[in-house]
Amino acid sequence: MSNFPDEKAGSGLPPPNQACSFKINTYAHPNKVTGRFVRLFAASCIALVLFVGGRVLFQFRDLAPDAKYGELCPQADVLVPEKNGKLWDIVTDKFGTDSFKAQAVEWLGGAVRVPTESYDNMDVVGKDPRWEAFGPFHDYLLGAFPLVHSTLKLSKVNTYGLFYEWKGSNASLKPILLAAHQDVVPVVPTTVDKWTHPPYSGHFDGEKLWGRGSSDDKSGLIGILAAIESLLDNSFQPTRTVVLAFGFDEEASGTQGAGSLAPALEAVYGKDGFAFIVDEGSGFAEQHGSVFATPGIAEKGSIDVRIEVSAPGGHSSIPPRHTSIGMLAALLVQYEENPYKVFLGRRDPFYTTLQCVAEYAKALPSHFRKTIKKSVHSKKALEALQGLVLENPNYKSLVGTTQAIDLIQGGVKSNALPEQAWAVVNHRISVSSSVGEVRAHDTKLLKSLASKFNLTYNAFGSRISEEGASSSGSLTLSDAFHLGLEPAPVTPTGKDAAPYQLLSGTIKATYNSHRSLVGRDTINVAPGMMSGNTDTRYYWDLSSHIFRYNHHNSGKNSNALGGIHTVNEFIEIDSFLEMIRFFATLILNADESRSL
Ligand SMILES: *[C@@H]1O[C@H](CO)[C@@H](O)[C@H](O)[C@H]1NC(C)=O
Ligand SMILES: *[C@@H]1O[C@H](CO)[C@@H](O)[C@H](O)[C@H]1NC(C)=O
Ligand SMILES: [Zn+2]
Repeated sequence: MSNFPDEKAGSGLPPPNQACSFKINTYAHPNKVTGRFVRLFAASCIALVLFVGGRVLFQFRDLAPDAKYGELCPQADVLVPEKNGKLWDIVTDKFGTDSFKAQAVEWLGGAVRVPTESYDNMDVVGKDPRWEAFGPFHDYLLGAFPLVHSTLKLSKVNTYGLFYEWKGSNASLKPILLAAHQDVVPVVPTTVDKWTHPPYSGHFDGEKLWGRGSSDDKSGLIGILAAIESLLDNSFQPTRTVVLAFGFDEEASGTQGAGSLAPALEAVYGKDGFAFIVDEGSGFAEQHGSVFATPGIAEKGSIDVRIEVSAPGGHSSIPPRHTSIGMLAALLVQYEENPYKVFLGRRDPFYTTLQCVAEYAKALPSHFRKTIKKSVHSKKALEALQGLVLENPNYKSLVGTTQAIDLIQGGVKSNALPEQAWAVVNHRISVSSSVGEVRAHDTKLLKSLASKFNLTYNAFGSRISEEGASSSGSLTLSDAFHLGLEPAPVTPTGKDAAPYQLLSGTIKATYNSHRSLVGRDTINVAPGMMSGNTDTRYYWDLSSHIFRYNHHNSGKNSNALGGIHTVNEFIEIDSFLEMIRFFATLILNADESRSL
């Protein structure tokens, strides 16, 4: 994943307060004996329920599931394929074998060994020779997944964008779209010797697979293809069409890849043509003593605002009171002294996340839990909750619009007055705000200083200062590199949002099956917020149900990103195997669903 326009993303549920989270150690690796025991146990449970069923159902009839499970964070039931149940058993059993593990290591390691770096400011495909690195990657996929390539229809969009169609037998069912990206963040040459294993080695140490892209996002791309190859190997033929879209410059803003794939997909399937879209994103992790999966249902927007001050030059021995640099400094101080106000509203996606935490996080401090729950009805509690959220920079950044002065330049010589000075402020825009609101806010913020310094003020193409006023220079606000990106539409997560319910049930089925667990509360699903962006920024028109989620096990802490975008990127092979299981389960569940 990447953050528009550059990189480094975080997502999902805010990291837990370390002091009040603990590791649950009961999730051992799947093992045949426990597996059998649990299956046996499950079978006897069913028998028991059948036996005393009448009485149990009678006694507890008044207790609707919602009485036990929070109304504001309803949890889906575990969703296991039924029609394709036998096939699901066969492929998931296979995913647990040593031979499949070796195959998975080979598939992912091979993909890591073909470097596919994308860079900022690359020229278009055909002009910039660096794109040619993707040719060998396509050759690799062709050789590694023979069934995929002999069965699915592959179209290449803008030369390197991969668009696969696995046609379903029933054309009246809306297709699903699984997305991933082929490119990786470049390895900084000076850091190569800091890698424990060379960045493009794809080295497997028996537990972890190392290398650039092993996690972000070749694990997603290879995970999807591995799941499909395995289903094909068992002669599965889909009823519902499955479409794959693999961009190739996600880490460099996605214009060439997903930006070209989006119109190609829309031309075939139409606006809102997909039942849902799953792309890279967050996974699951332990939070406050319970395990939460946090599919990203929203993405913040972003805008880089350039603030430029121009003033007459001249010899610095006869200076004016303020130079362009001095005025720029005052403008930047004005920014930092006036951060965006942050409000937490009950309609904010993060508010729903908090409700889930309050409902299911076993080790959440009780005052936090009480405040969250009370805030549903009490304005006072909502204010208190806002206070708690604002205290935590991670929480706060998920809710509000942020600002960071990231670039500055001015002046050319120590004895010459600077004719120009500029800075760039990077904003991440709250899902309840917009690019327009941020532009208006910044414009207003600097108005009094512009007039104090007698600067002719233009902002985003409009003249702000009065015509004909005296001027000792100019202040110009503009979009720094590209136009701002609006926050993504929020994916529905209610009880009647069939795609979210299907995804939730699939997450639970995958998690349980990988660990031979039973029950619907072994893992909780809560809506997550992305603070970065993915290729889905181009896919908004293709579906209103977009999830940034790939079932990656982040272990104890969702902040443990496994070297993503830095040295020593890796993935635990057990996590990768679970991702494959997730994609296979998702495809089968979606195939059977008639409510999507
Ligand atoms: C295709 O799916 C639609 C919608 O669920 C259903 O009504 C129809 O019967 C299906 N057609 C076939 C041939 O199964
Ligand atoms: C701005 O212009 C006014 C009127 O021309 C002048 O009095 C004032 O000193 C100027 N201020 C600056 C900072 O140049
Ligand atoms: Zn990525």
